[in-house]
Amino acid sequence: MNDSEYVTAFAPASIGNVCVGHDMLGLAIAGAGDRVSARKIVGSGVTIKEVRGLDGEIHAELSIDVTQNTASLAAAALWREAGESGGVELIVHKGIPLQSGMGSSAASAVAGAVAANALLESPLDKDALLPFALIGEEFASGGLHADNVAPSLVGGLVLCPTVFLPAMIRLPIPSGICSVLLHPALEVNTAESRSGLASSYSMEQWLNQQGYLAGFIAGCASSDIDLIGQSLRDVIIEPQRAASVPCFAAVKAAAMEAGALGCSLSGSGPSIFALCKEEVAVDMASTMEKSCRAAGYECQSWISPLDVPGATVERSA
Ligand code: HSE
Repeated sequence: MNDSEYVTAFAPASIGNVCVGHDMLGLAIAGAGDRVSARKIVGSGVTIKEVRGLDGEIHAELSIDVTQNTASLAAAALWREAGESGGVELIVHKGIPLQSGMGSSAASAVAGAVAANALLESPLDKDALLPFALIGEEFASGGLHADNVAPSLVGGLVLCPTVFLPAMIRLPIPSGICSVLLHPALEVNTAESRSGLASSYSMEQWLNQQGYLAGFIAGCASSDIDLIGQSLRDVIIEPQRAASVPCFAAVKAAAMEAGALGCSLSGSGPSIFALCKEEVAVDMASTMEKSCRAAGYECQSWISPLDVPGATVERSA
């Protein structure tokens, strides 16, 4: 067999938890994502030829060790399951900063699975790729949760309760609302952040959080902006993580003052997101950036509709 041409898959960044649904609710983001190129090669199993960073250069922190990269772990799991005996070579193009709270590891895992899938003679349906992408994500975050992988794979706003995995529930997209995601120049290690979370909570916290998640979903279903605004609260996880992102309190206060429906950490941070009415999004992004810089951190922001498409194959062999 000769080496084949590369196929390239793109997977978008995502907001994990979306404030109300720890480990089970996620939202895709426009304008940022990872790409994985894959081709069949002579040999067996998955190899990584190179990992490139945002600047297009060889990534300074990520190696080509296939046991340490979410893209290769996901692609290899799929390759094995498909019974493929040949080799696959990957090139990983990181478009999302590491440890940013923007679903970087999940996007690589999804792009790896989608690219490898495109090489199969009988590719699986996109939804069926979730378990393979989850294998990569679990390695990176130290836990089994699909709140980044699922929206990166299928787009939009997705609910994936751990007990129902690998099922994905696409939530209705409320009209007139968009997201603003701010990435301060900080890093938070998700696995460490997760290991620092308390393991038990009070009945009051549990009841309140259940109510907020239910209210948010009901608000999305009826495009009830007031209900969404009343519901976008996290009384359990955010208070434990807020201090790990020094600019969070200031950015959140500024966003709420500017009319955000809610504002919280994206995943384990350091990124911070707000949901807001579309007409205030540009001002919201600039307000959040300004307060972040005033707190001493350089930053970048993205404004996205809520119905961002999921992973795609951009270039086929
Ligand atoms: N749900 C995960 C967490 C997302 O909050 O730890 C990590 O990005």
